[in-house]
Amino acid sequence: MTVIRSVVVGCGSALPRKAVTNAELEALVETSDAWIVQRTGIRQRYVAAEDESTLTLGLAAAKAALADAGLTADDIDLIICATSTPDNTFPSTATQIQAGLGMHHGAAFDLQAVCSGFVYAVATADNFLRSGAHKRAIVIGAETFSRILDWSDRTTCVLFGDGAGAIVLEAAEGEGTSADRGVLTSQLRSDGRHRDKLYVDGGPGTTKTTGHLRMEGREVYRFAVGMVADVVEAAFAATGTTPEDLKWFVPHQANKRIIDASADKLGIAPEKVVITVDRHGNTSAASIPLALDAAVKDGRIKPGDLVMIEAIGGGFTWASALIRW
Ligand code: ACO
Repeated sequence: MTVIRSVVVGCGSALPRKAVTNAELEALVETSDAWIVQRTGIRQRYVAAEDESTLTLGLAAAKAALADAGLTADDIDLIICATSTPDNTFPSTATQIQAGLGMHHGAAFDLQAVCSGFVYAVATADNFLRSGAHKRAIVIGAETFSRILDWSDRTTCVLFGDGAGAIVLEAAEGEGTSADRGVLTSQLRSDGRHRDKLYVDGGPGTTKTTGHLRMEGREVYRFAVGMVADVVEAAFAATGTTPEDLKWFVPHQANKRIIDASADKLGIAPEKVVITVDRHGNTSAASIPLALDAAVKDGRIKPGDLVMIEAIGGGFTWASALIRW
């Protein structure tokens, strides 16, 4: 049976100019490189300068993905930007990226599912493409979490970083089997009862300020591996595939211990796991497209490879997508 698939035809990413090492954070809060590396696997993160923002990073990533695809903005009719740190409350960062690309047609909007935002955005774009409403989408994850961190709180400020990544999805015909290229399934979940474990303590409708990120790290950790297993196993079941079929596992990059424990529980071999948390820290919705771009550009991910992406985030939200590259 012929079906429409959303096929990845390009990817790109962008990072702030400045990398901040763990040692540099020792001057800000009572912490140590050894503690951060042992608990999280993070060695450095990038932090945006005054003239860098979610918009500038997201636009640079979108341009890089378009160039990688050999396309221009004229070829695109949908932009979705996953972010929890937009430049402004409104207009959306996506419409400003649209303007930055010189694009005056199609539709652009932001999507907010915190660290699961990129997977939610891939699922959303996939549904628009498979419905026939749109033909080619740029899906972006872009964040400047440095702007919502309490830099005096050592339990959170050492964990996060800034950056952006993007992919271009194109509607193409498939056979309706797991051998097709494109997004084969997406699995989205949320449970708002967990709000207080991970949230920002401000917003336009309450404090009228941006607020700061607050997290009960141990509580998030307690739920993390179970949520990852839930959506990854659901994606395997929906497509009749197994961990052995997988070429690459590209998880949300929050914490290497969560990634290792998840892969172990799922029976995914360590050599299939793409890790960038050591270099980027947790960049929330940007972490998966940054990791995808790194693994494509260093020659690991190739067309035809079966790639599982998954994330967990504030809400809680959690999600996976199985993509044949
Ligand atoms: N440096 C040194 N010591 C620290 C630091 C730090 N940066 N932060 C906390 N500590 C101390 C604590 O104060 C505590 O000290 P105490 O025993 O004297 O009270 C001790 O280290 C242990 O603290 P825990 O919170 O129990 O440390 P844990 O081993 O749980 O590690 C961590 C903390 C890394 C946050 C872990 O819980 C974790 O990774 N949780 C998941 C977080 C996560 O993935 N969040 C992202 C979700 S995605 C999103 O949507 C944003």
